[in-house]
Amino acid sequence: MSRSLIGGLIANNVKTKNLTATDPDEGQRQNMAEQFGITTLEDNNAAIADADVIVLAVKPQVMHQVVSGLAEAVKGSTKLLVSIAAGIKLDSLSEWLGEPSAIIRVMPNTPALIQAGAAALFANKHVTVSQKNTAESMMRSVGTAIWLESEDLMDTVTALSGSGPAYFFYFMEAMEKAAIDMGLNNEQARLLTIETALGAAKMALLSASDLAELRTQVTSPGGTTEQALNTFKQGKLEELVQAAMNAAKQRSIELSKSFGK
Ligand SMILES: NC(=O)c1ccc[n+]([C@@H]2O[C@H](COP(=O)([O-])OP(=O)(O)OC[C@H]3O[C@@H](n4cnc5c(N)ncnc54)[C@H](OP(=O)(O)O)[C@@H]3O)[C@@H](O)[C@H]2O)c1
Repeated sequence: MSRSLIGGLIANNVKTKNLTATDPDEGQRQNMAEQFGITTLEDNNAAIADADVIVLAVKPQVMHQVVSGLAEAVKGSTKLLVSIAAGIKLDSLSEWLGEPSAIIRVMPNTPALIQAGAAALFANKHVTVSQKNTAESMMRSVGTAIWLESEDLMDTVTALSGSGPAYFFYFMEAMEKAAIDMGLNNEQARLLTIETALGAAKMALLSASDLAELRTQVTSPGGTTEQALNTFKQGKLEELVQAAMNAAKQRSIELSKSFGK
């Protein structure tokens, strides 16, 4: 994730001299320095000494230890912390820092790796307008970004765009398998499945119509698409998607509770 963000920022004209990355592993540091031409350091505190923005891109399991280690350097400063860790609440981050700080929580997703991410952001009350703009443009460098009105919505976002790429892979996988069973070769089935998904997503993005209207427009009465959609309805696809997303949301809530301890 941090590599995607660094790549996106550089592609959007952020100067490499303004970026510093840390990693405990020397090989990773060397690799990052070579790939991006940025400064890499082992010591997190040395890296943040002159930083206006600190991006926390470590796994949720190590976040407590990493953030506690930054507390002294962040104390009394106007530095902005941006956490991209799934499930770590703003309250936990504040508690680990030990005093009120400007913190933004972001839920990105994996297509950020190819600058096609969809991220949601939520800021605590200490974040200034200019800091919000900085975080938003950082996430826009790797895709689209929206602001949430409440932190609780992060669990819904996790169930939608966070886990969502896998739902589409699963659906595409099922379409591909069915097409192969019906006679196409693997290559043909894969290409037509992926291009159809991409074309449908692009049409939805560029159209002013809502998704139900777009579906109706391509469903002729008595035609082939109607037959397939009726089969999905009989199989209660909508209820299944609702149940799946609710399950993801509940898991996100559970994980937040355990990471916050
Ligand atoms: N990947 C996703 O799709 C996705 C989506 C949404 C949110 N996120 C969030 O993004 C965060 C990063 O995920 P990721 O998939 O990029 O994980 P990752 O590949 O494991 O990256 C985390 C990096 O942090 C480094 N690190 C570990 N301890 C550190 C320390 N004390 N100081 C500085 N760096 C340290 C790790 O180094 P070593 O490998 O050398 O230990 C590793 O390079 C996670 O919190 C995750 O919840 C990821």
